[in-house]
Amino acid sequence: MTEEELKLACARLVDKYSDDLSESLQVETWHLKPIHASNFGKDMAPYQLLKTIKRKFVSTMPEAENVKVAVRVRPFNAREKQRDATNIISMEGSTTFLFNPVAPKEEPKKFAYDFSYWSNDGYIEQDNGYCTADPSHPNGSKFADQAKVYEDLGRGVLSNAWEGYNSTLFAYGQTGSGKSYSVIGYGPNKGIVPLFCEEMFQGIEEKKSSGDATEFEVRFSMLEIYSEVARDLLGNTGNKKKGLKVREHPKKGFYADGLKTYMVTGYKDIQSKIEEGTLNRSIASTNMNATSSRAHTIVGITLIQKAKNATGQETAKTSVVNLVDLAGSERVASTGATGDRLKEGAAINQSLSCLGNCIHALAEKSSGKNTRVPYRDSVLTRLLMNALGGNSKTVMVAAISPADINYEETLSTLRYADRAKQIKTLATINEDPTEKMIRELREENEKLKKALQSGEIGISDGKPGMSEDEIALYWIKREEEMKARLAENNRELMQMKQSYEEKMKQAQQQQKVDDNKAKIEEEKKKHPHLANLNFDPLLSGKITHIIKLGKNTIGKSDTDITLFGPSIHDMHAVITRDNDGVISIEGCSSDSRILLNGDPVTSEVVLSHCDRLMFGTTQLYVYNNPEQAKKSKETYPEVTYEMAQEEIANKAGINMDSDDHSLETALLNKDLLEVLPGIDEANSISEELDKRVKFEVMLISPQMIGKLSGRTEVLVKMRNLENELEFEWPKDVFLNRLYLMKEMYQNYESGEEWDLPEERDPFIEHINTEVRIGNVQVFLQPLAYMVEQKEQLEITDFKGTEVGIMNVEVVPCTETGKEYCENDDVFIDNPAELIGKNLHFIMKIHGCRGLPNKYRDIRCKYRVFLDEEDTVSEIVTSTINPDFNHQKTFSFKPVTQQLVDYLNNGAIMVQVWGKQKIRNSVIPKAEGKNTKQMFQADLLNHANNLANGFRMNGRTVDPNKQSIIVELLLMKKQQGRQQQRLENFKKLISVAEKQNQRSVPVYIIKDLMSASTPEAAEPILAQLSSDDEYGDYNRVRSSSACILL
Ligand SMILES: Nc1ncnc2c1ncn2[C@@H]1O[C@H](COP(=O)(O)OP(=O)(O)OP(=O)(O)O)[C@@H](O)[C@H]1O
Ligand SMILES: [Mg+2]
Repeated sequence: MTEEELKLACARLVDKYSDDLSESLQVETWHLKPIHASNFGKDMAPYQLLKTIKRKFVSTMPEAENVKVAVRVRPFNAREKQRDATNIISMEGSTTFLFNPVAPKEEPKKFAYDFSYWSNDGYIEQDNGYCTADPSHPNGSKFADQAKVYEDLGRGVLSNAWEGYNSTLFAYGQTGSGKSYSVIGYGPNKGIVPLFCEEMFQGIEEKKSSGDATEFEVRFSMLEIYSEVARDLLGNTGNKKKGLKVREHPKKGFYADGLKTYMVTGYKDIQSKIEEGTLNRSIASTNMNATSSRAHTIVGITLIQKAKNATGQETAKTSVVNLVDLAGSERVASTGATGDRLKEGAAINQSLSCLGNCIHALAEKSSGKNTRVPYRDSVLTRLLMNALGGNSKTVMVAAISPADINYEETLSTLRYADRAKQIKTLATINEDPTEKMIRELREENEKLKKALQSGEIGISDGKPGMSEDEIALYWIKREEEMKARLAENNRELMQMKQSYEEKMKQAQQQQKVDDNKAKIEEEKKKHPHLANLNFDPLLSGKITHIIKLGKNTIGKSDTDITLFGPSIHDMHAVITRDNDGVISIEGCSSDSRILLNGDPVTSEVVLSHCDRLMFGTTQLYVYNNPEQAKKSKETYPEVTYEMAQEEIANKAGINMDSDDHSLETALLNKDLLEVLPGIDEANSISEELDKRVKFEVMLISPQMIGKLSGRTEVLVKMRNLENELEFEWPKDVFLNRLYLMKEMYQNYESGEEWDLPEERDPFIEHINTEVRIGNVQVFLQPLAYMVEQKEQLEITDFKGTEVGIMNVEVVPCTETGKEYCENDDVFIDNPAELIGKNLHFIMKIHGCRGLPNKYRDIRCKYRVFLDEEDTVSEIVTSTINPDFNHQKTFSFKPVTQQLVDYLNNGAIMVQVWGKQKIRNSVIPKAEGKNTKQMFQADLLNHANNLANGFRMNGRTVDPNKQSIIVELLLMKKQQGRQQQRLENFKKLISVAEKQNQRSVPVYIIKDLMSASTPEAAEPILAQLSSDDEYGDYNRVRSSSACILL
């Protein structure tokens, strides 16, 4: 029987015994193994053979296993503690409960996992910094320290590795939730990777000393995926920009071609490799302008155990362990949903959202559905294909924050983890005779070489109907793939043939280089130095610049300390260290942007231990002076990235330390901290690339953007300085575009083609992009009483300024659309009477008057009740007084309590949208000026407008930022006023109902509209009972602006 026939027989059995195993790859890798190993079947009849295979096959068939899922909740961080954040997580056994902070009385959501780790409180820090359970704390007994997490998750992975199984452990969760803490760990609190390595080498030593003749080989690799590019963190392989190619191997599945794997001989080796990889991540994140928390890190550890079996044949057991620290999961859902023209920025999240799709599809598959799993759609999922659906034992750690502020993200992580636990994988032991492996590799290489020489490279695989060009392209691709496979096989062959001693020698040579690093660590302890601060705490303090005696120049090129990034000059600053140990910093030119503890450096200043320094807009460092620290009696707090950024924002006038500890303010501050550094960066890139665009931060109350409830949002105003067009971008659109701007800048810095055509340029918003002109709120209470309303309402813009008026009507009608008139007498005394009946009404928007001159192509949009889509009016082209003559009938059959509540308390938010016109007068002003000059002119202009607020306490404050504070105050006032109006009317209704009044005079309503405090409303309401005119029913009815009760 040929191998082919055997394969076929197996495949039939596979079909019969498992629906999940229909992929031929799986047939090849493990189904054949037991059959081959026993070498049976040579002379058997097919029927007999099948029976035997069946017996063998079923008894050795591995069981599919569920992905193990653990959830871990971290302690509150400093910021959360400071604002007394509420804990929304509780855990009992392996179950996690999540409480909704805005509805604390609601039943908590319950999620059952394999493990739920409480690491929030109940611990003490030992002298060496290790966090361990505190027996005196009520939660001490349930506290999970690093050792506990390792015992449950890491040790299992290790015992799998001994047996020859592949394993994968991946950590999922929002930024700052504790993924790296669990996977890598911080200082003495070592995570799973170091503990795993430590124990693995201990195990090797123990086995060796107990006389085990097995040869152990451990290989280590580390790669990063950022924006769909896989980069080797340990070698200079591959094109830095394009990264490593991800290729498919018929047996191994997907792999990163050219990824360097290093042989490691002890825990120390691995530790220094991790440090090297982390340093490379820090450098990339700082200098390449990338955002590290948007990168995925995959640590790969391969354990090869070579031993002789009973027949004297050498076999190799290979286990690949992947430990994956995923990028922060926030905004996975929101990117792509932002509606932005430039969605490519979403590539940042492509891997993560694709992982979500794969998990979703795999979960469906395991519940019996026949779903396609989109592994191929991203780099991450290709590399993790085995981990998710193939030959691997897989563990997921979902890291969550305990704080109320992160409710939405935590809920999404818990749901994600819930889905992951349904996935099943099927791991097999990877054990083969080395001789056979070598033979197979050689055979394959022969085949590849022949094919390449003869030029027959499987063109028959090409799709029918391919054009000649396509065939040519296909050839090139196939050829490249075959060459890569050949190279990979050769590499593997070489590794297999090399003796253990040779490999050890190589590894030791490598070690010598690493000794240098230890020297730098020593220097750091003695000499003053700058240490980087990164958004990701794991990458903070990794880049060090020692300050030598004399002058230390800082800049882009030919300087002692080289920094890259927008706004950094060739010669940016000088740090001088004199013989007396005094160290000072000075800018090289008046526009060298340097912030010292948040304040601009305008002349030479002396540095002190723990000072924060920002160069340009992205290079943030802390200055450390170990000598000074030792002598001083002061206790220095640990300087973090967040603290330094907050300081910069505070100094610019945005107070983040207010006493307002509310959830809303905390969320607002979180958004601001995310957006503000980005604004500075975007502006400096715009300046350097002469993009003629300026960004400003805006705060918007939910009402201003057409929402009836919600929280204050951070928006970014993008202003084209040339034509003065303005566009408002939601935060996510801005952040997405910022990635594209960074990429553009990166290309510019590295001397590559950088400018993009208009349609792909992140700095350009098309002139035809619609913008929101303003909103009108049409309260619906009259309709609840079946009364028509005809009103002329103010249109207000973002800032609450009146920008025009709108004529609207809301008229109850019959099912056929006939408007009710007074004679129909359909008024009702109590809106509850509507429940169960049918309600029809017509919404009319006649038109707007007096809109600002800069708009054209104007239209209105609105939603009623639970509408999921906007109703839109016609577009009126070239007038600032557009007549829409819009009307639409809405029907509710039957009316529910929810609808009555909506009518009573809610409103229709009509939004006015339009396109902008370029004024003829603006372009000449910009002519001949570059972006930098335009920024200066703009600043001056703004300063003149805000002359009083411009200098605060002798400091120069960025007027744009200053204006946000004004805006925020204004907005809060306006919100308060609106709320007060609503309260006034509620009171009015209750007073009127109590007194059994059916009508209220117009002037009382008018006065109430302008009463902005309860005190001001009181005397007006009092008039209601004293005024005898209200009884004049007919007189009041004749007015259109009254509310009938
Ligand atoms: N279980 C824990 N115990 C103590 N501190 C923790 C724990 N988990 C996280 N932290 C702390 O919280 C901070 C953020 O954690 P970490 O860096 O692990 O987050 P992350 O999820 O990897 O974020 P990112 O997506 O930005 O990489 C760190 O300062 C870390 O020390
Ligand atoms: Mg991390």
